[in-house]
Amino acid sequence: MTEELVLQWLREVQHPGREDKDLVSLGMVSNVEITDGKIVVTLAFPKRPDPLKNYLVGAAQAAIYRNAPGGTEVEVKTIVKDPAKKTVNELNLDQVREVGHIIGIASGKGGVGKSTVAVNLAIALARLGYRVGLADADVYGPSVPLMTGTEGYAPEMVGEEGQELFVPIEKYNVKWMSIGYFAQAGQALIWRGPMACSALKQIVLQTQWGPLDYLLIDMPPGTGDIHISLVSDIPLSGAVIVTTPQEVALSDVRKGVDMFRNPSVNRKIYGLVENMAWFTPEAHPQEKYYLFGKEGGTRMAAELDIPLLGQIPLVQGIREGGDIGQPTALGTRSDALAFLDLASKLVAAV
Ligand SMILES: Nc1ncnc2c1ncn2[C@@H]1O[C@H](COP(=O)(O)OP(=O)(O)OP(=O)(O)O)[C@@H](O)[C@H]1O
Ligand SMILES: [Mg+2]
Repeated sequence: MTEELVLQWLREVQHPGREDKDLVSLGMVSNVEITDGKIVVTLAFPKRPDPLKNYLVGAAQAAIYRNAPGGTEVEVKTIVKDPAKKTVNELNLDQVREVGHIIGIASGKGGVGKSTVAVNLAIALARLGYRVGLADADVYGPSVPLMTGTEGYAPEMVGEEGQELFVPIEKYNVKWMSIGYFAQAGQALIWRGPMACSALKQIVLQTQWGPLDYLLIDMPPGTGDIHISLVSDIPLSGAVIVTTPQEVALSDVRKGVDMFRNPSVNRKIYGLVENMAWFTPEAHPQEKYYLFGKEGGTRMAAELDIPLLGQIPLVQGIREGGDIGQPTALGTRSDALAFLDLASKLVAAV
C-alpha cells in the first residue's frame, strides 16, 4: 500500500455539490498516513459548514475499504481549513497551468524603462492577437496601475477549490495584476526580504489568469534573493533584459544576464531591449539624436552573446503616455510601431 494508491482510491469519491469533482482534485485530502495495517486519511473542509461532510467521510472510508486488502483498519479524520490562511508555500502552479510562456522583464539596474517596456510590450502582443497578462512584481515601486490608468482598482477575490484568488483587471485587452492595487493611493509600499518574496509569488501564482499565450512579469530591479526566489518558484520560460545604451550600463546588464545563466536558475534569455536608444523630438519624428552614443545596444548584445530584440527611442510621448495611463503602444506613431516590432521579434525568439 502506498500513498499514491490510496489517493487513487479516493479519486473514486465525487463531491456531489462541486460539479462531481473528486476529493483529490478538489484538494480536500490533506494527509494520508499508512502504518502497518492501518490507513489514516485527513480530509480538509472549508470553514463554512459543508452539508455533505458526513457523506464524504463515509464515502471516503468506503472507497478505501473497498480497495484495500481485507483486514485493513481505516480511519478518516477531518480538519477545518480557512482558505484565506493558505500559506504561500502551499501555492501551486494551478493558476499558470494554462499560460503558454511566462517571461520575466528584467534589468540589472533601476530606472532604465523596464516597466515602460513591459507595459507597452504587453499591449503590443495583445494587438498582435495574443492573449496576454502582466504581473507587476515590483514590490518596491509598482508602476503598472499608473501606467495603465487602473489606479484604484481593488482586486476582487474569488474562491476556487479551497483557495482564494485575485481577479486581474482587464484593460486594453491585457489582464493586469499589480502589488500596487493592494495599497492605498500614494502610500509607499515597504517590504522586507521574505515578505517581498511572498508578495510577488502571490501576485503571480494566486491570480486567476485563465488561458494566456504570454504572461509578462515586471520584475523588481536588482539581482538579489528575490530574483533568485522568483525564478526558482515560478516556471519562467525565460527573460528579456532591458537596458539603456550607455557604456556604464554594461556591467549592470551583465549582472542581470549572469543571474539567469546561474546554474541554479538557468533560464533562457530571449534578448536585449535597448531603451532610449536615441532621442527623437516630437516635432521632427524623422530625426535621431544619439545622446548616449550609437550602437551601444548592438555591442552589448554581441558581447553578452544574446540577440538584440529591439530598440526603443526616447520620445516625450512615451513618458506622457505612461503618466496618463494611455501607453504609446496603443497608437500608430513610430514609437508604437517600435513596440509592435519588438513584440513580433519576441514571439519569434520564444
Ligand atoms: N523610451 C522612453 N522615452 C521616454 N520616456 C521614457 C522611455 N522609457 C521610460 N521612460 C520614462 O522614464 C521613467 C522611468 O521609466 P520606468 O518607470 O519604466 O523605469 P523602470 O526601469 O521600470 O524603473 P524602476 O527601476 O523604478 O522600476 C518613466 O517616467 C518613463 O515614462
Ligand atoms: Mg519599474
